[in-house]
Amino acid sequence: MSVICVIGTGYVGLVTGTCLADMGNTVTCIDIIQEKIDRLKQGILPIYEPGLEEMVERNVQAGRLNFSTSYSEGLADSEFIFIAVNTPTGNHQGSADMRYVESAARSIAEHLDHYAIVINKSTVPVGSGDVVSRVIRNNLKNENAGFAVVSNPEFLREGAAIRDCQNPDRIVLGSSEPEAAHKVAHLYLQLRAPFVITDLYTAEMIKYASNAFLATKISFINEIAQVCERLGADVKQVSVGMGYDKRIGHAFLDAGLGYGGSCFPKDVRALAYMADEAGLHPQMLHAVMDINHDQRRLIISKLNNLLGSLRNTTIGILGLAFKPNTDDMREAPAVDIIRWVISQGASVRVYDPVAKETGRAALERENINLEHVTFCSDAYGVADQADALVVVTEWNEFKSLNMQRIHDAMRRPVLVDGRNVYEPSEMDRYGFIYRGMGRATNPAPSILPSSDSSTEVSDELVQESLIASES
Ligand SMILES: NC(=O)c1ccc[n+]([C@@H]2O[C@H](COP(=O)([O-])OP(=O)(O)OC[C@H]3O[C@@H](n4cnc5c(N)ncnc54)[C@H](O)[C@@H]3O)[C@@H](O)[C@H]2O)c1
Repeated sequence: MSVICVIGTGYVGLVTGTCLADMGNTVTCIDIIQEKIDRLKQGILPIYEPGLEEMVERNVQAGRLNFSTSYSEGLADSEFIFIAVNTPTGNHQGSADMRYVESAARSIAEHLDHYAIVINKSTVPVGSGDVVSRVIRNNLKNENAGFAVVSNPEFLREGAAIRDCQNPDRIVLGSSEPEAAHKVAHLYLQLRAPFVITDLYTAEMIKYASNAFLATKISFINEIAQVCERLGADVKQVSVGMGYDKRIGHAFLDAGLGYGGSCFPKDVRALAYMADEAGLHPQMLHAVMDINHDQRRLIISKLNNLLGSLRNTTIGILGLAFKPNTDDMREAPAVDIIRWVISQGASVRVYDPVAKETGRAALERENINLEHVTFCSDAYGVADQADALVVVTEWNEFKSLNMQRIHDAMRRPVLVDGRNVYEPSEMDRYGFIYRGMGRATNPAPSILPSSDSSTEVSDELVQESLIASES
């Protein structure tokens, strides 16, 4: 078992550090935010992630997991030093801001007094491994210090972070020193995942290419959704039908409000910037970003079409977090949608099962006038006297609401389902004026009672319908 330091105790650092401790290693997670570390020492987590709190507690009690703001404490005896700090969009046309990574590298150099492998988990532009090497080398203070840099991009998803960390689809390791990459591979051996061992630049690129591909899938199906809506097809069934093709797959094929969060938006931007800077014209990446931006705006045009005008209306917003099972508000569609409806003269009633504090903080940060926002304690409160309800985040809780009660509480029964959580025909029966994303308003008769139950359609039923369509 190894002694490990994780620098940056956010979503990736805290989850990675905790999982490494759970595997039997001794881990110190460090951060520059004193309050974050103080709270972690009291067992208060800075993020919501299912299962994480218990896992942190278990490993702290076992003496395998510690928190500190001190680099000298964190680095002492560490064989492996993970960098997991934030790399947000910088102020230059979408490029990644490397300030935090470089500062972490400088702090490593100042405190390192032995040989260690520095592993970069942050998502960083191609070539950053060399930058980290250079910064450390130029700032080393102790003559006994030595290091190798390995790129080990992270692929976990918020909301399923522990599962992803413990069962990764693959582990990517890139280094100009293959021996160092193999030592890191040993750290992960018990995870039984395939290893992809490459040079530094390739490993860094694998992360950007993967995120850009997933974002492309989302923008693709969102474009198809708009075509479906215009032509009277139902995108939910289109994706079910497409997804069964193993070459396509079901994942990331749900039409909706587009991608948000702390990764896809900034990573697609950063990749496009890198390609632009290299003298290329990354047309597809720019189209992916444009479609994603327009997707949120569709909500506003749907509301205007249905209500005539938003002036003096009350719009209910179900969900604030950028996706379910997280309280992360970074680049969440809810923020744009709330800003736009308020700017058109509406007030909003909002509810999110988890993103309460982070939701309020995000709206404040974006200078949204909270006088026009009422925070409710449940979805029924949001519906109360609302002129329209917009589903922004597909929390499970919203799938099992008493829709009759929701309908009866509203001033006007307009339901704009930004995540295609509900079935149009069912909402019709409750009396809602329902609009989904790419859903036929009056869906054509189908052999599938609903897209979700399509897997249960028997061969006989398919045969029957084929015969019927032939005759
Ligand atoms: N969040 C995700 O789902 C996810 C998934 C895969 C990869 N990533 C990548 O992982 C990296 C981290 O993302 P995150 O979401 O965990 O960020 P985060 O903002 O949640 O956490 C980063 C932490 O690093 C700390 N920090 C910054 N500079 C520091 C320094 N010099 N020394 C010590 N601590 C420092 C910050 O205070 C913060 O607590 C990013 O590059 C991101 O793109 C994120």
